[in-house]
Amino acid sequence: MTSTTADLLVHPQDAPDGPWWRSAVIYQVYPRSFADGDGDGIGDLPGITSRLEHLVELGVDAVWLSPFYLSPQADAGYDVADYRTVDPVFGTLDDADALLHRANDLGLRVIVDLVPNHTSDEHAWFTAALAAGPGSPQRELYMFRDGLGEHGELPPNDWKSVFGGGAWQRVTEPDGTPGQWYLHLFDVKQPDLNWHHPRVRAEFESILRFWLDRGVAGFRIDVAHGLVKADGLPPYGHEHEMLQGTDEQRPQAPYWDQDDVHEIYRSWNRVVSAYDGDRVLVAEAWVEPAERLARYVREDELHQSFNFPYLVTPWSAGELREVVTASLQATDAVGAPTTWVLSNHDLVRHASRFGYPAGTRLGNGIGADDPQPDAALGLQRARAASLLMLALPGSAYLYQGEELGLPEHTTLPDDVRQDPTWLRSGHVHRGRDGCRVPLPWQADAPSYGFGPGPLSWLPQPAVWRELALDVQREVPGSTYETYRAALRLRRSLELGTGSLTWLTGWGKDVVALANRNVTVLANVGTTDLELPADTVVLVSSGEPREVDGVVIVPADTTVWARLVRA
Ligand code: NOJ
Ligand code: MG
Repeated sequence: MTSTTADLLVHPQDAPDGPWWRSAVIYQVYPRSFADGDGDGIGDLPGITSRLEHLVELGVDAVWLSPFYLSPQADAGYDVADYRTVDPVFGTLDDADALLHRANDLGLRVIVDLVPNHTSDEHAWFTAALAAGPGSPQRELYMFRDGLGEHGELPPNDWKSVFGGGAWQRVTEPDGTPGQWYLHLFDVKQPDLNWHHPRVRAEFESILRFWLDRGVAGFRIDVAHGLVKADGLPPYGHEHEMLQGTDEQRPQAPYWDQDDVHEIYRSWNRVVSAYDGDRVLVAEAWVEPAERLARYVREDELHQSFNFPYLVTPWSAGELREVVTASLQATDAVGAPTTWVLSNHDLVRHASRFGYPAGTRLGNGIGADDPQPDAALGLQRARAASLLMLALPGSAYLYQGEELGLPEHTTLPDDVRQDPTWLRSGHVHRGRDGCRVPLPWQADAPSYGFGPGPLSWLPQPAVWRELALDVQREVPGSTYETYRAALRLRRSLELGTGSLTWLTGWGKDVVALANRNVTVLANVGTTDLELPADTVVLVSSGEPREVDGVVIVPADTTVWARLVRA
């Protein structure tokens, strides 16, 4: 059935002795929802520390922590009031140090989140800027402008907030009169910094060093494509639903992916390069096409960028092949590793996304009155998609709970929603709460073991009970044990530094590839796939059936196998 004649090598093996992050599996912890140590219903650093062994058992290399810094929590911590202080809701700086020590003892690296595009409006710089008034050096650190119109009553331009509504807020000056406007590409409580200012640059280099000195393995850079705005702040004429790339209808925005942003990353590269241990800088950049995104990971800039084009690819064999090829080619051209990701704290979890017909356009959240996903289909495809992802060379990012096959909470009551998107869009876009629900560790404990008591900052759906970790542990074929098996094999077979060859002869609906000597087959079609005799299945996302000695891979299933070739 297989034919090697037209097989196509797309990506060669990596050097065996490269930095760890080129092939790492990195697990995203969303601190408020991972584990609650003190029972207030909000996850915290001691909670995370107490559960780090789970990540060792799962078999990941590193953890990325979303922000835990001092913050009024207007955007769940992505509104930072002090970058060197831990928010009391999450613990103390000592708790952060204890977490780093424990992780180090367990052989887990820790990446933290850096939020450089904006601060909180409660950051000392911003309150000083408000108090100091127009024309002051303090205002220069942010994007203050006079308004248009006779009395400055109109915003300086037409830019829209990613969370809905306008991107400018008018302030009341210290003398009580209506005054200047400041830019906030996100919430009104997230004023954008002025990255042309040397003090802003110096401050962030100092923040990098503060955390590097404490032993972090690197940083995930929030909105890495947004720091520099086009000179003169020209009008744009379009809106963004959320962070999105460009297309014909939506040309390049004057606040995303500006060329001057790269100079910042060259200077950060110099900062981290002075430290030992191959520290890593990861870009959250919604930039297309792949060649443009690859500029962020040139040799003297950042090291990785999240592969969002891969994340948004529907369950379609052709589209999957295309995006994998394009991703590998673009990063190979600049010598960087490709990354892979299927879920994070901003998007509908993939176990629910794949429960909709391919190509369905979903917002960032689903409400009880929206069409609901097919949960069983979603989970089956999610497992198949994850197993395909974990076979790819490069680095993979997992989002907490996907190892349990957690779906989105698609019926959260609207009155518990906290994402500013819901409010700012005038109750049009549900926002991201549904992927941020606290994790289920134990089926029979209050809050499913998230904390010591019953509290959970968002209500957990009833299905958490059957998906809890203790229900799946040591159960062969559970989602959790499938992830574990895949991660173990990925490590021992060195797939992360492996190669990628597309295999022909498996039909158009099968994503068929070889990485080193493993054959990976994702059956994206609707009919059974028969494996040649003597095939050894190493791991499977579902139950392969055997009929008359022939192994059958059903639809929506991925296997890693060893083929005995004629
Ligand atoms: C991207 C983060 O992932 C998201 O959660 C946040 O709201 C925005 N950046 C603004 O910081
Ligand atoms: Mg707590």
